Amino acid sequence: MFEPSVYIGRRRALVAALASRGARDGLVAFPGNNESPINYPDNAYRFRQDSCFLYYFGIAEPGLAATIDLGAGRATLYADGLTIDDLVWTGPRPGVDEYRALCGADAVEPRSAFGRDVAAARGRCLFTPPYRADSAIELGEALGMAPKDLAAAASGALIAAVVAQREIKEDRELADIERAVDVSIDMHRAVIAAARPGVTEAAMMAEAYRVAYSGGGMPAFPAIATTKGSVLHNHGYPGTLADGGLFLLDAGAETVNGYAGDLTSTFPIGARYDDRQRAVYDIVLRAGEACASMMAPGVPYRDCHLAAARAIAEGLRALGVMRGDPDEAVAAGAHACFFPHGVGHQMGLDVHDMENLGEVNVGYDGQPKSAEFGLKSLRLAKPLKAGMVLTIEPGVYFIEGLIAAWKAEKRHSSFIDYAEAEKWLPVGGVRASGAARAGSASRSTSP
Ligand code: GLY
Ligand code: MN
Repeated sequence: MFEPSVYIGRRRALVAALASRGARDGLVAFPGNNESPINYPDNAYRFRQDSCFLYYFGIAEPGLAATIDLGAGRATLYADGLTIDDLVWTGPRPGVDEYRALCGADAVEPRSAFGRDVAAARGRCLFTPPYRADSAIELGEALGMAPKDLAAAASGALIAAVVAQREIKEDRELADIERAVDVSIDMHRAVIAAARPGVTEAAMMAEAYRVAYSGGGMPAFPAIATTKGSVLHNHGYPGTLADGGLFLLDAGAETVNGYAGDLTSTFPIGARYDDRQRAVYDIVLRAGEACASMMAPGVPYRDCHLAAARAIAEGLRALGVMRGDPDEAVAAGAHACFFPHGVGHQMGLDVHDMENLGEVNVGYDGQPKSAEFGLKSLRLAKPLKAGMVLTIEPGVYFIEGLIAAWKAEKRHSSFIDYAEAEKWLPVGGVRASGAARAGSASRSTSP
């Protein structure tokens, strides 16, 4: 974690931001994450702290909570001391006063007092939408609300203030994200080096994870390591690599401090791309470049997405898969048959940064998202700001079921030659990424 002054400064900035939004009184609740059991309580998934808790209090340990009293400007950490059983089974760890000092909180209380303090703040408690059942149950009990009603009762002012603060990365955060990206590049290099016909997808996934864990952190999200790149989020690993096919790896590492990397590469399993694979790969690279070249403070990310979409429509027209004017094709949404997802998203303490605060709050300034196929999957559309960190990860896919469905309804048939598109089905899917910082030269992170 960082120095205590970092967390003190972030909390002060949050209190000031909330005051400027009219929230001068009240209690901000930060339930930290608990251990998450796999199949019985002592057999838990690897612990991951809540990212808001990490950002404002920094301690990556289970069983903690915190509050900020906005009127008094005081932060309280809720933590229990070490029992003899804890000592025996999980070893020594900092005492509660040491925890308080590490995050610079003003006070420390027993963990059970969190519910008491939240209950006393009914009607003036600010919280973000809980995404874990145990946190929702605890908050709901304290606030006298059903867990399912909490998301709608979350504080809009708090969400807006947190998003505005967390989306501008501090230099220390950028340094950590660079570390995450470096480990992520190593993951990709290791997988590319291990790829050959006969190796299983599971072994490729394990190779990526080996590097992520060796980096001291862990995978930032479940790796997509697949011979079927046309399935966008393919989280199974049942296949075996075969000569002539493509392999798509979408994987990244998270650092010890919790910052994420997220990269995709698509490469030939044999010695080289065949002509069709190469042609599609080149279109994807051009789409990434078109997106990156537009990225600057003040430019809506939606326009960067559409620049990538235009490059894809243009490239597919040159291949005979699409036809007509690329701008008109993109305006109509025809490109989404081959590029059905958003070009990227913010990245930070979460790989999809702050997505738990609501996509429209993070990426759309609270405005509704497009319902159009393709654009509805764009996680961020608002103008970029200096200091944001974003991914760029365009792709071109030949998805059999989607092509068949659109062909059957003659959808966008003035822009798509379905007979030609079907010939490209063996290419499957190609995605390739980079990352860029709004307001500075983009750093290519494609291995
Ligand atoms: N790269 C994985 C994702 O953004 O969901
Ligand atoms: Mn991503």
